[in-house]
Amino acid sequence: MKRVCAVTHMFDHVPLAYTHSYGCQQNVSDGEKINGMLYRMGYDITDDPEKADFILYNTCAVRENAENRVFGNLGALKHLKNRNPDLIIAVCGCMVQQEHIAERIKKTFPFVDLVFGTHVLHRFPEFLYSIFEKGKRVFELPQCDGVICEGIPVKRDSKFRASVPIMYGCNNFCTYCIVPYVRGRERSRAPGEIISEVKGLIEKGYKEILLLGQNVNSYDGGGMNFSGLLRELDSIDGDFVINFMTSHPKDCSHELIDTIADSRHISWHLHLPVQSGSDRILKLMNRHYDVAHYTELVEYARRRIPDIQLTTDIIVGFPGETYEDFTETLELMRKIKYDSAFTFIYSKREGTKAAEMDDPVSDEDKGKWFRELLEVQGECGDEAYKKYVGQTMRILCEGRGRTDESLYTGKSRQNIIVDFNGNEQHIGQFVDVKITRALNWALVGEIIQ
Ligand code: 5AD
Ligand code: SF4
Repeated sequence: MKRVCAVTHMFDHVPLAYTHSYGCQQNVSDGEKINGMLYRMGYDITDDPEKADFILYNTCAVRENAENRVFGNLGALKHLKNRNPDLIIAVCGCMVQQEHIAERIKKTFPFVDLVFGTHVLHRFPEFLYSIFEKGKRVFELPQCDGVICEGIPVKRDSKFRASVPIMYGCNNFCTYCIVPYVRGRERSRAPGEIISEVKGLIEKGYKEILLLGQNVNSYDGGGMNFSGLLRELDSIDGDFVINFMTSHPKDCSHELIDTIADSRHISWHLHLPVQSGSDRILKLMNRHYDVAHYTELVEYARRRIPDIQLTTDIIVGFPGETYEDFTETLELMRKIKYDSAFTFIYSKREGTKAAEMDDPVSDEDKGKWFRELLEVQGECGDEAYKKYVGQTMRILCEGRGRTDESLYTGKSRQNIIVDFNGNEQHIGQFVDVKITRALNWALVGEIIQ
């Protein structure tokens, strides 16, 4: 970083970097590390690519449409490079970790200077220096199980909400999913590193800590499991909330639910991706649980934490899924009545097991099923949110309203979006709000003075 800094100091202006992270919170968290390194190397961050001396896309591979968007956006950078040949263009993240994608960028986007994979994020300054020194393109995409690199500087996007990765990678190999191929095997950070990072954040005034991992329930801190880590973090004094994602139903334990129920700081929110309501499809997906096990977990969670917010992910149109399988998913949704659900049409990922399976259902039919699912979820959300009207909730204010720009917005202990009549001073503070109205994805209320 020092060597790059020596180069950027010789510029006749403070160089500007534009970075954009696609995809999940883990990727956004990597983006904050990239911005942290750029700051240390003398760059300022800009949100205008037209003004940038350095542009980086931190990409996602989970579905094809995310990849197509990156290709489209990359193509559009060509004219910027023509206008400013000194502009450095970089692409990193999950998408380029796939060999065929890196090859395509090498061949069809000659104006891209730097491509690096998920396992060498910490070596980004070295790659950038090499470009300044040698003026040659750099492609660094080692395949490995991954390492953990502590101490990378972080430039956080928010002053009161902080993401803290606790583990990286995934061992599950769900048959539709590219993540294990692009993020490597599971590895957990040491509990001491996590605890001291969180303590430091609370001392600095952060009010929301978001613990991240592809499968936080299989956190293994050398004798400390995820519930144990949560209990340690919950014992820290201060006024803050802890959120976490994502939980895999096969590893979600009663101990975890009890830990949330007995906690002072942990959100009453469980994001528990079910993916399908058909046991047959769950087996083909290699999920290692069935609907009965999943339903038992949800019932236990609702018994221990009556106000818990339950959310999920669902894939429509997995290869070989029949309309009968799909109706089982609808049935499960009607039974569980999720507060909200992230729904996706299956996207074929090269290299995964599901990509080899027969997929006879047409895109048109999958689209119809998808709309049917959205409709049912809309009704469930209506019902789930109405029950909060009249309640008073403690809200961490985040900024301008989501339902209405003239309002302010934040999240409740359940991690539910609540808009209210706040002001600029409330941002980053907790306020008590009485709920007056429910939509099927958010609540609206008034501040209690
Ligand atoms: N197609 C569609 N959705 C997918 N997801 C993961 N892989 C795919 C795929 N190939 C969804 C899952 C996961 C969420 C992050 O993305 O529902 O939980
Ligand atoms: Fe995140 Fe997975 Fe997308 Fe990578 S592929 S950015 S881990 S969602």
